[in-house]
Amino acid sequence: MARPPATPKTWSHVSVEEPAGSYYGAPRFDLLTDGGAALEWVAKYLEQLPELPVLPQIEPGSVRAQLPASAPDEAESFADVLRDLDEILVPALTHWQHPRFFSYFAVTSSEPAMVAEFLAAAMNQVAFIWRSSPAATELEQHVMAWLAEMLGLPEHWHGHSEDTASTSTLAALIAARDESGRGAVLYSEHAHSSVEKAIRMLALEPRVIATDDDFRMRPDLVESELARGDVAAVVATVGTTSITSVDPVDALARLCGPAGVWLHVDAAYAGAAWVCPEFGWSRSGVAEADSLVVNPHKWLFVPSDCSALWTRRPEAFRRAFSLVPEYLRTDDDADSLSDYGPALGRRFRALKLWVTLRCYGRLAIQERIRHAVELAALFEHWVAADEEWEISAPRHFSLVCFRWRGSDEENLAILEAVNASGEMFITHTRVNDRVVLRLAVGNARTRESDVAHAWKVLCREARRIGED
Ligand SMILES: Cc1ncc(COP(=O)(O)O)c(C=O)c1O
Repeated sequence: MARPPATPKTWSHVSVEEPAGSYYGAPRFDLLTDGGAALEWVAKYLEQLPELPVLPQIEPGSVRAQLPASAPDEAESFADVLRDLDEILVPALTHWQHPRFFSYFAVTSSEPAMVAEFLAAAMNQVAFIWRSSPAATELEQHVMAWLAEMLGLPEHWHGHSEDTASTSTLAALIAARDESGRGAVLYSEHAHSSVEKAIRMLALEPRVIATDDDFRMRPDLVESELARGDVAAVVATVGTTSITSVDPVDALARLCGPAGVWLHVDAAYAGAAWVCPEFGWSRSGVAEADSLVVNPHKWLFVPSDCSALWTRRPEAFRRAFSLVPEYLRTDDDADSLSDYGPALGRRFRALKLWVTLRCYGRLAIQERIRHAVELAALFEHWVAADEEWEISAPRHFSLVCFRWRGSDEENLAILEAVNASGEMFITHTRVNDRVVLRLAVGNARTRESDVAHAWKVLCREARRIGED
């Protein structure tokens, strides 16, 4: 690009020669050539994924050690950036898109949703009020209603998106606190750490409720706590992070309703399964909750971030969050999504969800969810049939909790060894005070051969550790 002329600019100087086809301070980048190269890079990356080690074997600090201390003064080519992506960053990636990524909750960024992210960035909508982006505001309202219908949620619920389930739960607890004026929050010992974090940030009082033999929050203990009259909210989980246990939401709703206590349901992972009628059992009682979070970025093929938050009490959210300064006042008779959560500026997050729901359709989404569950069931079957291994918790969805019949140290050694192999990546948890391994199926590229491969690596490393 030609440098701009060194003409001194004054208020009287109105005819400045503009650089042709570009603008002052433009980057060294051609949208079609460099953008095309990026698209090709994506296709190649996705194709070669199965050959890459799932977990990088590198030391902390090794990425920064390869980067220059300061940003460049002169523009660099995008080809140089792509080269560094290949040489510096890819070897340091934990490949969440890898078919043998079985950690945490395995997720998928689907191709249509990836491209939707790119389109959203091109339009760069900042939807803090309706007028600042009618399209982003109304599409989000509409797609939340679509998703609610797909998941079998009540028709009249108000839905909006947040970045993460952590923010969604924080927002719900703010509304619950403001409505009740009370300070305690009840949740199970298996609830996600984001619940305790929200409680801590809000200076509320955390009260952990013990669980039964199936790792479900005990309603009898909840009832005693409610009798104290100081509870602002109960957080129930459908699909806990460690073991995917399902709290008895219906029983909790029957207790919370009459006590005037807010019931928030965290179905960040498992809520996606409600798209299949056979998982409707785990939705029981959810229609009576005050708020619900489901993360499309977990099991609905949308890249991070995308968390869906619904409530049957939108007015409580508006009381907690609506604050319209003079400079944002308009006489538009329209709902603004920033009235329902902590953030003012909102990105066009709904676009990738809309594109995903349209480019898959309900049937393909059901197929993918069922396939993940079937693969998990197959793996569970192999574990259960081998007397050297055992299943550690009931499997409800696509997560298998299991252990080698040995010590905690040996199970941790197996975990280390299988992850160091680069052939697969799993994590662990503790159940009944014992180390348990977790294999989470969820990536759309995972096939039966990947799960079989993982089982082979686990058996190989367990045998080796057993012989040591
Ligand atoms: C049940 C549950 N709730 C909440 C979260 C937190 O999700 P996020 O990372 O979107 O805050 C997780 C993450 O795995 C989870 O499993």
